[in-house]
Amino acid sequence: MGTGFSLRVLPSGDGQIDLAREVRAGLTAARKQLPCRFFYDAAGSRIFEEICALEEYYLTRAEDEILARHAADIVAAVAPTAVLVELGSGAATKTRRLLDAHRRRGGNPGFAMVDISSSALEGSARVLRAEFPALSVEGIAAEYEDGIDLLAAEKRTPWLVLWLGSNVGNLDRDAAGRFLGRVRARLGRDDRFLLGVDRRKEKSVLERAYDDASGVTARFNFNLFTRIDRELGGHFAGAAFRHIALYDEAAGRVEMHLESLVDQVVRVDALELDVRFARGERIHTEDSYKYSDAEVRELGRAAGFRVERTYTDSDARFLSVLFAPE
Ligand code: AVJ
Repeated sequence: MGTGFSLRVLPSGDGQIDLAREVRAGLTAARKQLPCRFFYDAAGSRIFEEICALEEYYLTRAEDEILARHAADIVAAVAPTAVLVELGSGAATKTRRLLDAHRRRGGNPGFAMVDISSSALEGSARVLRAEFPALSVEGIAAEYEDGIDLLAAEKRTPWLVLWLGSNVGNLDRDAAGRFLGRVRARLGRDDRFLLGVDRRKEKSVLERAYDDASGVTARFNFNLFTRIDRELGGHFAGAAFRHIALYDEAAGRVEMHLESLVDQVVRVDALELDVRFARGERIHTEDSYKYSDAEVRELGRAAGFRVERTYTDSDARFLSVLFAPE
């Protein structure tokens, strides 16, 4: 990639160490499940970009609308010397809005991103470096906590931390609170934290966003099987499953599952494991939590943040909250 981009892969990056262990644990549990971070191999990261372009998946467009309109206001909250630190390499289009606004006011910042997928980091870096040739881009392939700890050890300038795209939604509410606390502990008075969350809304809109008519999200979900087949000698390719997305209104989360259509046994060679499925039995593959405005505020408050600004899109579907350390 040439100069200006450095990539470090930590042990937690690319899901290398624990796929086998997590697949064994998840598929032998009473309620079968697989961790959603395994979606994001190279193929899965590409399918996710396709999801972001779907009519039904309004999240990406809504957040982009917010950033297009308010980027200047957002970056004005930090010094021109601030470095932008993104958790999840995200769709580079959204980040570009902020980098562009930051450059316009005389910032020529560094940009660092932490993502589980090194291929997603390389993709984002390529796009960003084409548009911002002077930008030095650093990628850390790791789980968020490992990545942010590493960057914090090297921190020399104010930070604007970005956690966009409703990525917080993959954590349950307690874990999200704990993670915000970890982020908060790394920040000082001059730092800011921009959190993008999907708002609670009607069930039908949410379920369509996670079960689109053209089947892209289903492909994303089934990519877990492709990955288990390739990396662990699984035999899911011939098995009969369907993709399901369900909104649990009380919990405020969309759940994705893979449901067995028949009684069947699926072998995973590398684990010497025969996984038995009853007809109708499900593998829980993802939760996407949705937030009311009050819930986001409380999430931040409990972690030691105050709300400096909030922004929403014209259809009020998405919420971007600029938090400052309390
Ligand atoms: C990347 C976690 C924000 O939950 O909306 C999209 C992932 N899953 N469609 C989300 C996803 C199914 C997405 N996040």
